[in-house]
Amino acid sequence: MSDLASQLASVSKQFEHDLGSVLTTDDLEALRIKYLGRKSAFQELLRSLKDMTVEERKTAGVMANELKRHIADSIDRKGNSLERARFDAMATEERVDLSLPGIASPRGHLHMVTQAIREIEVIYERLGFTRVRCPEVDWEWYAFETLRIGPDHPARDNWETFFLDVPADPKKGHMILTPHTTNGDVREMERGQLPIRTMNINKTYRRQSDVSHVPMFHQFEGLLVDRGITIAHLKGLSDHFAKEFFGSEREIRLRPHHFRFTEPSFEVDISCGLCLGKGCRMCKDGWVELGGAGMLHPDVLRAGGVDPDEYTALAFGWGVERSLSMRAGLRVPDLRIMYGNDMRFLEQF
Ligand code: DAH
Repeated sequence: MSDLASQLASVSKQFEHDLGSVLTTDDLEALRIKYLGRKSAFQELLRSLKDMTVEERKTAGVMANELKRHIADSIDRKGNSLERARFDAMATEERVDLSLPGIASPRGHLHMVTQAIREIEVIYERLGFTRVRCPEVDWEWYAFETLRIGPDHPARDNWETFFLDVPADPKKGHMILTPHTTNGDVREMERGQLPIRTMNINKTYRRQSDVSHVPMFHQFEGLLVDRGITIAHLKGLSDHFAKEFFGSEREIRLRPHHFRFTEPSFEVDISCGLCLGKGCRMCKDGWVELGGAGMLHPDVLRAGGVDPDEYTALAFGWGVERSLSMRAGLRVPDLRIMYGNDMRFLEQF
């Protein structure tokens, strides 16, 4: 009996010592197995109780069970405090300060030219023009031949037009990157549905690059084919566009010009947005050229299968980048910057 008591005392002492060196839940689990596991020395000791007399067992049993409960409770408490320590550590190590300002992820937006194209599209849509996209890669036939631009015309020169290295068609000529959106006019008429009120906005290509030209640019081409279309319609449309796109203070003027495919032909000018008509480096005399326009030549209508005795047509083809750069407040000294991919410039628009 006193033998057992001293054994229990040494178990208890050993346990307190072992418990003191527990640092992790793994340590604790090892400790639990060591004292409470079925094969542990302590359990062995408890089993020996059965060999005692009833009298002996009474006191020894109480002592042993008290120690067993003490061990189990101590292990539970240690477990709880380890768990709490783990959460405390997490709270400092994984701390997130929700009051700090966030890191904004970079947000893109449409390129300034795409924005302008959409604006232009909407301006004409309200006037009943349907947006179309005629081929960017086309035959000389549509870009030149049917527009009365003969084989000897300088526009057909390698220095002005990009030619594709593919076999020519006996009737339609070479394939080219279209130098203007006017290639769509005969194509639209060929569809055979009159009247026509279309807005062809597309990429156009020319072999030129300087402060006011990029080799790939965009044009928007309005085409109106109906009975009784006159220059008055052209003037009204031009004025409407100038005021919608550039602002109500802007003026337009039609200046006589020459294009092979229109008769009469005009350059449509708009009062300069940089100097508002005074004259500056960009415009020189207060007016800047929006682009060409005119009444389609009867031969062009015929090429599209339209009877010029019954129908007349107006057309205009203007540059998107040019129009954009001319808009008030947008001082772009060199058009090429629009395609330079310099975010410091592009993100401002
Ligand atoms: N296609 C011409 C150019 O790129 C511009 C033009 C002039 C278009 C007169 C037209 C027009 O529709 O009627 O220079």
